[in-house]
Amino acid sequence: MTSVNAAKHHFFLPLPPRSLQASPPSYRLPALITTYSHLPDRSIAHGDQSMAYYRPAPIGCDLNHGFDRKIERDEDLDEHLDGLCVALQDVWRSGKKGERRGGFITWRGMITRLMTAPFEEREGWEMTAIALDGSIYIEQHDPPDLRKDRRKQQSSWAWQSYMGYAFEAFSTVPAAGEDRKDDDPEGWSGDVNTKVQWELTGSVIRSAIGDIPLCLGGEVDCVQAEIGSPHPGLDKCMELKTSKVIENEKQDLIFHKKMLKHWAQSWLLGVPTIEVGFRDDAGILKSRSTFDTTQIPRFMASLSGPPWHPTPALHFLHAVLSLVLHHVLPTDPCPSESLPADAPLPPADVWRFSFIPRRGCELYNVGPIG
Ligand code: A3P
Ligand code: MG
Ligand code: MG
Repeated sequence: MTSVNAAKHHFFLPLPPRSLQASPPSYRLPALITTYSHLPDRSIAHGDQSMAYYRPAPIGCDLNHGFDRKIERDEDLDEHLDGLCVALQDVWRSGKKGERRGGFITWRGMITRLMTAPFEEREGWEMTAIALDGSIYIEQHDPPDLRKDRRKQQSSWAWQSYMGYAFEAFSTVPAAGEDRKDDDPEGWSGDVNTKVQWELTGSVIRSAIGDIPLCLGGEVDCVQAEIGSPHPGLDKCMELKTSKVIENEKQDLIFHKKMLKHWAQSWLLGVPTIEVGFRDDAGILKSRSTFDTTQIPRFMASLSGPPWHPTPALHFLHAVLSLVLHHVLPTDPCPSESLPADAPLPPADVWRFSFIPRRGCELYNVGPIG
């Protein structure tokens, strides 16, 4: 049930119970629209220049390797939805089949947050929604003070975060070629540069969650294909993750909780395989396990007292998107079609929706854009 304070255009959607079992709206199999790459200088190129091929990391490799040589993307630069929009403009120009109007255009990470909210106990967030030309664009609301806090938090995780990237460097061969130095260990394909990314723009052509179209952009770590071969399609894509070796019940529970985010992130984009590299406290890779993304919920259900279930996640995702769609999309969803080609679009209203852990989601209007 949505509670409404219509005078302020303020709406509240409570979280569903975690035990909810009513059958959830279905999520269509994602279809790939296009791909693009962030090159080492962070510029955008259409195509697969930054794609990487999977090559299993050697057990025993040291995930601290190359820490002092890493190159990091400037997190202070707010890229908004730039890459996704550049990719979609190219799709529109070339007349390829793009996203469906009347739905959402955003990063996969935003939808992952909506889905995982029913099980998120600590981290709130805020997103901005703007309706433009028949679709709703969503991005993270990221004011400077929040970003400063996040940077502080991230610096305390810097080493752990680096090991995730180092696992990628040990597990992949870049399409652009390896960049090894004389002292690099076996399996290392080149120093970590977090500016480099390979993005898929996937779309659920007919419907995404229930009848709400989604057009999502998201980074993919690698493909399982012969080195040098062209992009082999969504079903060969693979997500890489790291985890600490599981040695007790508490760590087991933490890992299973983390699986919700891993599952949602990959499943939304249609990435069928997740490989987890397990490392010890010193950063040495001890083992690897591969998970079939679509089987993860079944695997979770087989555990005693599973820490999450996809049903409330899908219900909540659908409920939030329905609420946003209902209030944010104007009744004339495509003003450009009734205006002369050179006429400016009317100013769009900016809406925000924020998540309060354990409670729910608030949607409110903040007025016309700029
Ligand atoms: P792990 O998830 O294995 O720790 P992704 O897995 O999404 O491809 O991201 C690659 C790595 O980047 C992650 O590996 C993690 O180390 C780091 N990373 C991703 N998102 C992050 C964030 N919000 N803050 C800090 N590090 C992050
Ligand atoms: Mg990645
Ligand atoms: Mg990864």
